[in-house]
Amino acid sequence: MTRSRDEFRFFSHLRVRWVEVDMQKIVFNGHYLMYLDTAISDYWRALGLPYEKSMHALGGDLFVVKSSLEYHGSAFYDDILDIGLKCTKIGNSSIVISGGIFRGNTCLVSAELIYVFANPHTKKSMTVPDAVRQLMVDFENGLPVTQMVLGPWAELKEEALALRLEVFVQEQGVPLEMEQDEHDETSRHIVLRNALGLCIATARLLPVSHEGVSKLGRMAVERQLRGHDLGRTVLKALLEEARARGDQEVLIHAQKSVQPFYAKAGFEPQGEAFMEAGIEHIEMKLKLKT
Ligand SMILES: CC(C)(COP(=O)(O)OP(=O)(O)OC[C@H]1O[C@@H](n2cnc3c(N)ncnc32)[C@H](O)[C@@H]1OP(=O)(O)O)[C@@H](O)C(=O)NCCC(=O)NCCS
Repeated sequence: MTRSRDEFRFFSHLRVRWVEVDMQKIVFNGHYLMYLDTAISDYWRALGLPYEKSMHALGGDLFVVKSSLEYHGSAFYDDILDIGLKCTKIGNSSIVISGGIFRGNTCLVSAELIYVFANPHTKKSMTVPDAVRQLMVDFENGLPVTQMVLGPWAELKEEALALRLEVFVQEQGVPLEMEQDEHDETSRHIVLRNALGLCIATARLLPVSHEGVSKLGRMAVERQLRGHDLGRTVLKALLEEARARGDQEVLIHAQKSVQPFYAKAGFEPQGEAFMEAGIEHIEMKLKLKT
């Protein structure tokens, strides 16, 4: 049965490449499963779940036990395809995801994928954890899937620091002794938690100076969830905090590679680039409108 775009939320938007086309000059049928799998990865990201870490925390993993595809039309080289998904059923240990692969309004492939939550070692099925069940129901109903908390270091240290160490020390090679400093104690911190209670984004806002300037920093988003608006969400919330307490201007030492991220929020570069913790940085400023 062909499907309508209105039934789905879209998780992938991709262009068909030469290598995906077969001798009939149409996309080889097996590639559609790969397109769906790519979209499923984005589905987990949209739920705020870094897949591996989340499954580890839940003590299980999801295994595909059945994939059914119906082909209604062909896709060609250079076509742009949209992959839509929705969770249609959660049984005791199974999760059913329906999919639709569209070129414009035309449904080329409809799909049903059945996953079973199971012990990764014994492969024995297990009950889908309540937190995942609730999360998927909420997500499909358009409810928020993350929780934002602002607070002092004493309250948020454990969560914020774990992510900061992972991002700045392990991933970027910042020396451990430089990662934490005396400003943590006096800063306002923000933590974004996913539905499993894992911290997936954090940042801090230092106290304002006499001149009305405050400094924002230690902005980190869980690696697997980047590019999904979490950084923007955290930045916006801290800027609102700064505005609400009357700060005139917010300053950051931005890593050069993420300058466009801050520029999108209105920050402007000041002066020359410089090295900090072995990474090229640039100072950027944002005037807050009152
Ligand atoms: C920098 C960081 C916090 C951005 O968070 P994110 O969740 O990936 O960013 P978002 O998805 O909210 O992006 C918001 C916008 O900025 C853009 N953006 C984000 N990172 C970018 C980058 N490195 N280069 C160019 N644009 C970028 C996004 O494309 C998006 O643009 P849009 O408005 O056109 O959609 C994240 O990549 C991160 O944690 N990096 C590692 C730690 C780090 O470098 N921190 C910064 C220290 S100064």
